[in-house]
Order: sequence, then structure tokens, then C-alpha cells
Amino acid sequence: MGYRDIEFDKDSVFLVGGGAGFIGSNLCEALIDMGYTVRCLDDLSTGKYENIEPLISNERFTFIKGDIRSLDTCKEATEGVDYVLQQAAWGSVPRSIEMPLLYEEINIRGTLNMMEASRINGVKKFVYASSSSVYGDSPTLPKKEGQEGKVISPYALTKRVDEEYGRLYKELYGLDTYGLRYFNVFGRRQDPNGMYAAVIPKFIKQLLHGEVPTINGDGKQSRDFTYIDNVIEANLRACKASGDAAGQAFNVGAGGRLFLIDIYYHLCKALGKDVEPNFGPPRKGDVRDSNADITKARELLGYDPEYDFEKGIALAIDWYKEYLR
Ligand SMILES: NC(=O)c1ccc[n+]([C@@H]2O[C@H](COP(=O)([O-])OP(=O)(O)OC[C@H]3O[C@@H](n4cnc5c(N)ncnc54)[C@H](O)[C@@H]3O)[C@@H](O)[C@H]2O)c1
Repeated sequence: MGYRDIEFDKDSVFLVGGGAGFIGSNLCEALIDMGYTVRCLDDLSTGKYENIEPLISNERFTFIKGDIRSLDTCKEATEGVDYVLQQAAWGSVPRSIEMPLLYEEINIRGTLNMMEASRINGVKKFVYASSSSVYGDSPTLPKKEGQEGKVISPYALTKRVDEEYGRLYKELYGLDTYGLRYFNVFGRRQDPNGMYAAVIPKFIKQLLHGEVPTINGDGKQSRDFTYIDNVIEANLRACKASGDAAGQAFNVGAGGRLFLIDIYYHLCKALGKDVEPNFGPPRKGDVRDSNADITKARELLGYDPEYDFEKGIALAIDWYKEYLR
């Protein structure tokens, strides 16, 4: 069952932090399509206005250009809001190694501001983006909540700290928080550009443009690539979850494990390209293998991902073919 069957009171108000980004704009669009009122808070630092442009004329949609590092901005944005879906953060493990202080300010203080503002304004549910990177150097597969290793990047540490605040805000103040540990999300509107772009959109763009992609490492690293609609579902299920499940973090993956080199050849085949990749040095801070055990999200949130990799990647490729035309 997909997210479209999840129902809320018709006058529900959602705030999407980072709503002009890849995941955030998909959340905004889905909620507007479902008939709800949506506020989008974004400073357009890594997100793009064009991601939300089609929604701007909708009277149920409001865009607030602002920075989550300002508590006042977060307080204004959360006033009268029922559900907060906090996606605003800076992604990318390698960039966090270059700029640890900025990651601390945005990903930790910014998310804490959003949590504090939500507590002050009596928000019903605070759902926030965590990351599979919190598993760090733990070799255990599949990754299971409670079996985290030592984090190996500033980015992963920021998400770990967010989760600890999420737990504390439930325990100390009774705010229902739910941390979603996303596992390599892909799909429409994920940015293919720049040196910190995620592999799937980057490879699709390079192959479509006749360039030769570079795989960092030997290509035998594995990931649980998760289609965007599964992530939308997880967010909406968390909004409907029991307060007993709050204060915790949940794996949000598709439950599979694919080697990067196999993804590469899958994309080549789907795009009708016969190009051997280049291989570069492995990236510092990257985990070797990642694969989600989604039992906890299934049991406590009712998460039931509708899209496996094949189904999702076919839709993503169609979208990029159109978008990059
Ligand atoms: N995409 C993935 O595979 C993945 C995996 C794990 C976790 N996540 C997490 O999911 C969330 C969304 O990721 P995404 O892939 O959509 O990234 P994205 O960069 O497309 O979106 C993040 C959005 O947050 C906004 N933002 C950044 N700093 C801000 C600030 N100080 N104030 C207001 N807005 C700010 C950006 O402008 C952008 O629109 C992030 O928290 C990220 O860490 C993503």
C-alpha cells in the first residue's frame, strides 16, 4: 500500500523543513496533491526554487525563505502547524569532512531549533531525517537499530546527535519525535550536478551526455537504494504512529542490497549505453556496505515500501530522460 491511502484531518497543516530540496520538494508535492496545507521552509542553499515553483500558485502552499539556524524563524514557521517533516540539512559525507563546523551549525543546531520551536508551538508530531550513516563502522549486515558502530564522518555524528535530541525531547518534554534513517534515496528531482552529487543521478546524467563516469573504489561497495516514494510513505506513517513509538529512530530502506558496479551496468543497459567506467580512489568516511533491516519501521510505523529498486529506477530514469532533454 502506498502513501496516497494514508489519511489526515482535511485541515491538517504540514511544515516541511528543507522543502525545496530533493526529498522535501517531493513531500511538499505529495501533501499538496493529497489536499493538505503545506508550508515549506528553506534557505535555498542546496535546494532549488525550481523544485517548488509548480506549487507556488497553489493557495494551500506557502514558501518561507529562511534559515533553520534562526530560532525565531523556526518559531514563526511552526506556528499553527500539526506535523513537522524536518529534512533541512547539508548532506554529503566528504563535504562534512571539509566543513565540520558548518555541519554542526546546520544539522545539529538547526534541527534542535526546529524541535524546540515545535515543542513551544505544540506540534503533534515531529518527524526528522536521520541517515544510515549513523551505523558508522559496524560490519553487521543488515543494519539493525541498536547495533550502531563508531561514526566515521562529521555528517554521521550530526545525525547521531539529532537522534539523541529526538529521544530527549520525547522523554523530557513529551514531544512525539520520529527519526528516519534514510538509506541512499533516489528519484525525481535529485540533483545530478556538482562534486557532491549522489551516484545515481550523477551517473545517469553522465551516461546521457556521453561522459565516462568514475566509480570511487572497486565498485563492490553495496547500498540499499531506496525510491523516493517509499520515503514519502515512511514520513506520513510516522505522522500517524502511536506516541509509544516516539523518541526513537527507524531504518527507512527498501530492504535490499546492491553493489555499485551492478547499479552502474543496470543504468548502462537501461540507457542503451556500452561504456566501461573509470575507477578512482575510495572516498574517506564512506561505509563499505549498507543494507536496512526494516522490521522495526514495519512493526511500529506500519511502513510497507511499495517500490523495489527495479520499479523505482525505471521511473527515475524516465524522469531524468525528460528533465535532461
Ligand atoms: N538523499 C539521501 O539519500 C539521504 C540519505 C540519508 C539522509 N538524508 C537526509 O535527508 C534530508 C534531505 O536530503 P536531500 O537529499 O533532499 O538533500 P537536499 O540538499 O536536496 O535538501 C536539503 C534542503 O535543506 C535546505 N537547507 C539546508 N540548510 C538549510 C538551512 N540552514 N535552513 C533552511 N534550509 C536549509 C536546502 O536548501 C535543501 O533544499 C537531509 O537531512 C539529509 O541529510 C538524505
